[in-house]
Amino acid sequence: MERPEIDLRSASVARIFDYYLGGAHNFAVDRVLADAAAKLMPELPQMMQLHRRFLARAMRYLVGQGVTQFLDLGSGLPTAGGSAELARRLEPSSRVVLVDNDPAVIAHGKHLLDSANTAVVLGDICEPDVVLDHPETRRLLDFDQPVGLLLVGVLDFVGDVDLPAVIARYRDRVTAGSHIALTNFSVEGGLEDYQRTEQLYRDNTTIDFHPRSAAEVTELLAGFDLAEPGVVDISLWRPEAVEDLDEHPERSAAYVAVGRKP
Ligand SMILES: C[S@@+](CC[C@H](N)C(=O)[O-])C[C@H]1O[C@@H](n2cnc3c(N)ncnc32)[C@H](O)[C@@H]1O
Repeated sequence: MERPEIDLRSASVARIFDYYLGGAHNFAVDRVLADAAAKLMPELPQMMQLHRRFLARAMRYLVGQGVTQFLDLGSGLPTAGGSAELARRLEPSSRVVLVDNDPAVIAHGKHLLDSANTAVVLGDICEPDVVLDHPETRRLLDFDQPVGLLLVGVLDFVGDVDLPAVIARYRDRVTAGSHIALTNFSVEGGLEDYQRTEQLYRDNTTIDFHPRSAAEVTELLAGFDLAEPGVVDISLWRPEAVEDLDEHPERSAAYVAVGRKP
């Protein structure tokens, strides 16, 4: 069977995520792949919505803990409902540094964000010192004050590194009272649909998936005091509305947690 004309290898995680969220910053190449993946896993768009809703709940919690500066690691496109907009809405004086390794995100980001309190940084989140010492990070964030580390929807694409050590490095460099909000999708609820989706991505893109178990996610949070209810499925972390709940709770879509550096 002939492959479609479109070069699927250039689909981007950030733009696929934007498409599932109903955004306009995506191309045909992204939509073709996203639609094919959603045929294999019809719950994918809802999973993206659940991530966005968790980000909002977690950031509201962090602001309630006195955190007003955020380092959004693997930010994706800063469109409606993203960390920059949420931060501005929750606390107008908040500062947000968005970090992503996709140059297209950075280009769009610079265009979409027009605020002295926000910066976009091209960087690999697996290089904490480079990210933390970047001039834009240092310009906006005061490391004598608590920082909110946001790792939402990004660790799913990060493997082949000592991830506990990477996160420990961020933890060691931020001050006490800093927080982390983290997600990682899991396949503990079932493998079959996931494996077919992973194959689709493998055949057509360079995007790699890294599901993690609850135990592995807990290991990433060493040295943080976890806020109640600890490491749980994404819809069980302090849900506030029916839209926060997973239509398929038996599946364990993603594990999430929020922690505080003591
Ligand atoms: C699903 S999207 C972003 C979701 C966003 N955090 C949110 O909650 O709305 C994941 C993003 O992580 C970025 N990413 C993946 N691996 C990365 C890495 N090692 N360093 C920086 N960014 C990365 C991708 O380019 C993509 O934009």
